Amino acid sequence: MSLLEIDGLTKRFGGLTAVDDVSFGVDRGEIVGLIGPNGSGKSTVFNCIMSVYDVTDGAIRFDGEEITDVSTHEVVNRGVARVSQESNPIERYSVAGNIKLFTLPNTVRSFYGGADEQEIYGYADRVGLGDKLEEQPDELPHADVRRLEIAKALATEPEVLLLDEPFAGMNQAEISTLAEQIEAMREEGMTMVVVDHNMSGLMSLVDRTVVLHNGSKLAAGLPEEIVEDESVQEAYLAGEGI
Ligand SMILES: Nc1ncnc2c1ncn2[C@@H]1O[C@H](COP(=O)(O)OP(=O)(O)OP(=O)(O)O)[C@@H](O)[C@H]1O
Ligand SMILES: [Mg+2]
Repeated sequence: MSLLEIDGLTKRFGGLTAVDDVSFGVDRGEIVGLIGPNGSGKSTVFNCIMSVYDVTDGAIRFDGEEITDVSTHEVVNRGVARVSQESNPIERYSVAGNIKLFTLPNTVRSFYGGADEQEIYGYADRVGLGDKLEEQPDELPHADVRRLEIAKALATEPEVLLLDEPFAGMNQAEISTLAEQIEAMREEGMTMVVVDHNMSGLMSLVDRTVVLHNGSKLAAGLPEEIVEDESVQEAYLAGEGI
């Protein structure tokens, strides 16, 4: 049984079917890539997993239990965290303060005032922000703002981390550094789903890839199978390459 199971997931917005009967599983310790052109439904899948959107049809299971209709707060409590496409740090808080806020949803720890300094350093250090704890978000370069979003998600102590376009807007050096940090998180036992437009940044990182096109699952397989897949290449012909 997979740690995270997406089973026949469908999400409609009025007449638009953003996600159409999509199924895939994510095993413990795996990194699964979720790729697809603009508007193919990648972020909507994440929003459904996180209960940000109500699911139209289908089921989402985590560790054998259905989480389809539980609240976002409860999804996080069970052990799933998401880094969204947009960054939303609180500007008047330091990096440490922003991370600390995300340690509060856990009731036992919030009783004791959230994570201590050493724990916060630990979350920041896993994405290379260990020496920037006292900086304000608006002093950080874009790549560090994105890494802060990951540190915030780590502060909820997830078992599964959903990353929505973590490499967007980063230069090649920043992409390699982040890829190494994601790899290190996997070695510590984190299970991840990484969304990207195409395979370029994911090739060496992911174990398996699921491809979405117009809301449907177009293909799934090993990265090297996906780049060779004709239906996938066709789906990408109109826009950027796979
Ligand atoms: N809240 C919403 N209300 C109405 N339509 C929505 C909503 N969210 C997403 N959609 C639509 O659902 C479809 C899938 O969008 P989604 O954001 O999941 O795509 P995506 O694969 O993440 O794209 P991108 O690569 O641009 O981030 C799009 O047609 C989008 O316009
Ligand atoms: Mg998206």
